[in-house]
Amino acid sequence: MRTNIVAGNWKMNKIFEEADDLIANIADFVRNNELENTAVIICPPSLYIELATDLAQETELYVGAQNLSNYESGAYTGEISAAMLESMGVDYCIIGHSERRKYFKESHEVLAEKVNIALKYNVTPIFCCGELLPEREAAQHFDIVKTQLEQSVFHLKEGDFKNLVIAYEPVWAIGTGVTASPDQAQEMHKYIRGLINDKYGKETAESSSILYGGSCNANNAKELFANPDVDGGLIGGASLKADEFIKIIQSI
Ligand code: PGA
Repeated sequence: MRTNIVAGNWKMNKIFEEADDLIANIADFVRNNELENTAVIICPPSLYIELATDLAQETELYVGAQNLSNYESGAYTGEISAAMLESMGVDYCIIGHSERRKYFKESHEVLAEKVNIALKYNVTPIFCCGELLPEREAAQHFDIVKTQLEQSVFHLKEGDFKNLVIAYEPVWAIGTGVTASPDQAQEMHKYIRGLINDKYGKETAESSSILYGGSCNANNAKELFANPDVDGGLIGGASLKADEFIKIIQSI
């Protein structure tokens, strides 16, 4: 049985006191509720990772980073390495988010390097893929997602691929309030699972968690998560309020 995952991507939000409050509330919920076969992950800005790992101690709440360097260590001002994340108890890292592709010009090659170095240091990549609106309108969305996977994760050996989470995030749905319909999400998730099946076989395909991201909130999560190939969500805006994020966790 594959793991259901609800992950919060805080992006560049929250000052210290707000972060402290939000993490504490989520940690309390996770501590006091039995969440069967579901992993809850928060990905705060890196500055708050120690705060998060402290508050998440002795709970089933996992901490992820939003980014890591493709370099191992050394003179890379401003960067954070996979080894540093591992040493701080970080279990996951978002890689390939469309905002990093767009604003930081991260290429397929750089993303493949980030995936490799994360896995080397036992940090599980949450690898994001997804098409732009014009690409969907031109019916290229399947090809775009296939290329993103082929270029940045399908070089992995099966054993490594098993330590990867995929997030399908149609770019037109991110932060826009426009969500993919449950049918659109299921269609793409099924397609992705089919690609994994072709590359790595049935067992790996069936055990891979594929998350949906893009304006997922407390009102639409249940319907999205009800699809057989949607194993949870990567939540942006709606992960910034404890009560809303908790409702999404309860929708799984
Ligand atoms: P959103 O962001 O939920 O605010 O659309 C999702 C994401 O970018 O991961």
